[in-house]
Amino acid sequence: MAIWNLGSINADMVYSLPHFPAAGETLAATGFDRFLGGKGANMSVAAARAGSHVAHIGAVGADGSWSIRRLMEYGVDTRHIVQVPEPTGQALVFVDPTGENQIVILPGANRAIPETAIQAALAEAAAGDTLLIQNETNAQAMAARIGRDLGLRVAYAAAPFEATAVLAVLAFLDLLILNEIEAQQLQQATGQAPEALRVRDVIVTLGARGARHIDTGTGEIRDYPAIPVTPVDTTGAGDTFTGYVLAGLDRGMALPQAISQAMRAAAIMVTRHGTADVIPDLRDVQESRL
Ligand code: ADP
Ligand code: NA
Repeated sequence: MAIWNLGSINADMVYSLPHFPAAGETLAATGFDRFLGGKGANMSVAAARAGSHVAHIGAVGADGSWSIRRLMEYGVDTRHIVQVPEPTGQALVFVDPTGENQIVILPGANRAIPETAIQAALAEAAAGDTLLIQNETNAQAMAARIGRDLGLRVAYAAAPFEATAVLAVLAFLDLLILNEIEAQQLQQATGQAPEALRVRDVIVTLGARGARHIDTGTGEIRDYPAIPVTPVDTTGAGDTFTGYVLAGLDRGMALPQAISQAMRAAAIMVTRHGTADVIPDLRDVQESRL
């Protein structure tokens, strides 16, 4: 089985600053770091570290070979990442001495993935594979429709939240993953509670309170308490959770087991600083005492 992830790839450019710049101010950074980021890339790395074959479908600019190499090092199949004229996606992160941040996203190539590249990639997919989508690329609905028609498990992580984006793919989904705020936003947009959605499985992540699985077929709701840890950095917890849930399902685990393992991985993730580079692998998850 395989996971096909239509997803964003960003260079996270992190600048340490003495303070946030005011309008018109020029400021020298006191430090700089570049990391692999983007929700799509994070989820690909998480699913690969969880033991799945993950093919990332996406685009970078002429300056993007660095991020492709990084994904490859993390075990992701990068054959379906294409180069386009737009710049590689970026997250410019300004961090002040108190640790507060300001973030500017440049979608760039992530919103310019050629539809032909997506079609060519999914032509290699087989029934029973998984298609994962988030809301940082173009062509989400087209991909979801192809996935449904091919008999793939179609999963959507509704982040960053946009009601029109979710509504455009909803009819094709087998699994919808949202955090608590996104679930509220979707309820406001549709007037329907998650359990009334026509998506077989809905998972609502609740941060330090764990996660809730709603089986809309049976109406059964099951709560999973979070694994207690002392958080140092919650970035990437949701992406790690999603990648692990899908990898678990892809490897034949039942959903409760996949969720439990994903919660362990996400709990480890909140004890680590960073994103894609520090996503735990299966051995970390199995050897941890969490
Ligand atoms: P997102 O990052 O997408 O907002 P959440 O904050 O809901 O997602 O976190 C996703 C999952 O990560 C949760 O369901 C939980 O399993 C785990 N998690 C997040 N924060 C914590 C925490 N403080 N302690 C333990 N687990 C956490
Ligand atoms: Na997070």
